[in-house]
Amino acid sequence: MTSTAPAPTANIGVVGLAVMGSNLARNLASREGNTVAVYNRTWEKTETLLAEHPEAGFVPATDYKEFAAALQKPRTALIMVKAGRGTDAVIDELVQVFEPGDIIVDGGNALFTDTIRREKAVRETGINFVGAGISGGEEGALLGPSIMPGGSAEAWVTLKPILESIAAVAEGEPCVTHVGTDGAGHFVKMIHNGIEYADMQLIAEAYDLLRRVGGLSPAEIADVFAEWNTGELESYLIEITAEVLRQVDATTGQPLVDVILDQAGAKGTGAWTVQTALDLGVPVSGIAEAVFARSLSSKPAQRAAAQALPGGAENWTVSDRDAFIEDVRRALYASKIIAYSQGFDAIVAGAEEFGWEIKKGEIAKIWRAGCIIRARFLNRITEAYAADPALVALVTAPYFADAVSGSLPSWRRIVAGAALAGIPTPAFASSLSYFDGLRADRLPAALIQGQRDFFGAHTYKRIDREGTFHTDWSGDRTESVAEDTH
Ligand code: 6PG
Repeated sequence: MTSTAPAPTANIGVVGLAVMGSNLARNLASREGNTVAVYNRTWEKTETLLAEHPEAGFVPATDYKEFAAALQKPRTALIMVKAGRGTDAVIDELVQVFEPGDIIVDGGNALFTDTIRREKAVRETGINFVGAGISGGEEGALLGPSIMPGGSAEAWVTLKPILESIAAVAEGEPCVTHVGTDGAGHFVKMIHNGIEYADMQLIAEAYDLLRRVGGLSPAEIADVFAEWNTGELESYLIEITAEVLRQVDATTGQPLVDVILDQAGAKGTGAWTVQTALDLGVPVSGIAEAVFARSLSSKPAQRAAAQALPGGAENWTVSDRDAFIEDVRRALYASKIIAYSQGFDAIVAGAEEFGWEIKKGEIAKIWRAGCIIRARFLNRITEAYAADPALVALVTAPYFADAVSGSLPSWRRIVAGAALAGIPTPAFASSLSYFDGLRADRLPAALIQGQRDFFGAHTYKRIDREGTFHTDWSGDRTESVAEDTH
């Protein structure tokens, strides 16, 4: 095999030539200055790619040795295989044929804690390991994704021009930045996906209300979304939702959305976001409801059993259709702001916990193009963090505070109306509750502290004195018998 090894002509290699891998390889090859080595576990995939894209000038390899030999030093390999054990297997192979200073980039949707573990292990060999979140689906991979690399600053020096050459471009700037060390890139990609889940659920709730309460057809709702896409809600997800709603099923002639089984799938990144946020103590309630809504939809037995239950619902008659549509739009926008605010809170908490210096404004910037949650209002997020890098909650930044305040009457009407009409709006409702909780002067958490101290002597703090207190609850409860446990 080694005798047929090509001369080291490639500046980057791709391992894993399924659709994301081959599209990224083609994207890389299409940019000036790049020569791309390619390797896949089964040769057939490599052969197909070579046959279909001779213009790419790929340097094919039949094994890892040949792959390494094709790469100029420092060697850079982008792994695009299914996240999990497959990634570990490829890393084990590459570590055998790479040398100190070389770079292994995992572009899959890896769990960030796996990336932290892998980075630590690979670093011991002197090889750099970079976990890079890549968003944009198949098309993004081919034409320009948003890229969120972690890993060492040393690896970034080599990677920067290569990744910048293939990333999406927003207002002249490539949608890639060094997010932070080790697992920071995959952490931020995970939060991106959590926000994606929330965004999708919110749009789905808006659709459901427009359909069931507003009486609009899928095609009419497509028109509404297309209209919304010209304003502050402008985003890829709103744009594609209009297209999905316009699609007619070839066999039945029905709107396609009506013949698609209403059970949402999930590959797990939304659940990871929520699990991680729970560990970090960050209330990502909008994202959590979006994950749970998919789980609920995928419980056919429970849903069938509950169908006979009474709803006690009232009729919701809309007298002014345009005003109702505007209420839904505002509720959607306000809830979306909450989802992003919660997502950025999780990024802040993660950065603190794992020791990453993540620039929030830069993250918003690299999400402006290429990725699934690309949206016009991301510029506002960048501006908010530029104006106040220590911003404690995105929703309190002037632009967002104004946008939410202006939407409040609509938001409340929609959430209350949906509750009365028996229409589930878990993400709209939880986002509003979160907002009300955040702005509350006083929360019933005081009572919870009392309960905890009552049954478990868990102690509480007071508003009028420093220290930690415990009450003898069995004593005369007409008088507070607080004792400082310090
Ligand atoms: C992206 C997407 C992509 C994918 C996720 C979510 O940024 O390109 O987030 O990673 O859509 O895998 O998929 P599920 O909805 O199946 O969890």
